[in-house]
Amino acid sequence: MTRRKLVAGNWKMHGTAADLDEVRAIAEAAQRMGGVIVALCVPATLIHRAAEAVPGFPIGAQDIHSAEKGAHTGDICAAMLHDAGASLTIVGHSERRDAHREDDASVRAKSEAALCSGLQVILCVGESDAERVSGKAVEIVSAQLDASLPHGAAADRGVPDRLAVAYEPIWAIGTGKVPSTQDIGEMHAALRSRLHAAYGSAGASVPILYGGSVKATNAAEIFAVADVDGALVGGASLKAADFLPIVEAAAAAA
Ligand code: 13P
Repeated sequence: MTRRKLVAGNWKMHGTAADLDEVRAIAEAAQRMGGVIVALCVPATLIHRAAEAVPGFPIGAQDIHSAEKGAHTGDICAAMLHDAGASLTIVGHSERRDAHREDDASVRAKSEAALCSGLQVILCVGESDAERVSGKAVEIVSAQLDASLPHGAAADRGVPDRLAVAYEPIWAIGTGKVPSTQDIGEMHAALRSRLHAAYGSAGASVPILYGGSVKATNAAEIFAVADVDGALVGGASLKAADFLPIVEAAAAAA
C-alpha cells in the first residue's frame, strides 16, 4: 500500500521574522522535490507571516484549543489558525502533555476540533525512558494512541486523508539518542494495527512518522524501516541546510 510520505518540521519555541528566509529556502527546495509532502509547524506568532511568505506551502501550528471560541486566555482555536494561514496542527506533543498536563482525552478533543475545521493533524504519542526500560513501551504507547485518536464525525471527515500519527519516544527528543531500527519497526507495526482496529481499512492510509533526534546522518536508515512514512523533526528543521537532506532522504525512500 502506498501511503503519502510526510516530513514535518516542528520549530517549537524558535523563530521570529528574521527566520523567514529559512522558511522560504525550505519551501522552495521542497516544492521541487517529488514524492514527499513537507510542512513546517512554526510558533503561532509566525504562522501568518510564514504562510504569506510561501503561498501554497503547508504551514502549521503546534497546538490548538478544542473549543470553537470562548474564555480561554492565551489559547488559539481552529478558526484563528485558518485565519492566520495554517493548514495543519500538531496535537499531543509530549512537551505539551508534560508541561501543560494534556491528557489523552484532551488530545483527542483537540484532534477532533482540528479535523472538523478542515485542518490536518499530526497526533503525537511516545513513551518515557522509564516506560521503555520497563519493557512495556509498545503496550503503553498503543493504549495512548487508542485513547487519543479522533472519533465520530471528525474521524469520518479526516481519516485517512488528513490525519498522521507521530511516534516520538520522549527520551529520544533532543538527546541524540534514537531507538534501534528494530524497536522503531516494532512500535510502528503496533501503531498500524491500532489504526486498523480504530478505522478498519482506512487505517492503512494514515502515515506514521518517527520523531526524536532525526538528522541527515540517520534519516535514510530510519526511512528504510517498514511502516515509517516520514518524520517529525525538531532541532534539525530550523535551518534549510540541516532539514533539506532529511527531506531528500525521505524522497529517495518514497
Ligand atoms: P528533535 O528532532 O529536536 O529531537 O525533536 C523531535 C520533536 O520533538 C519533534 O516534534
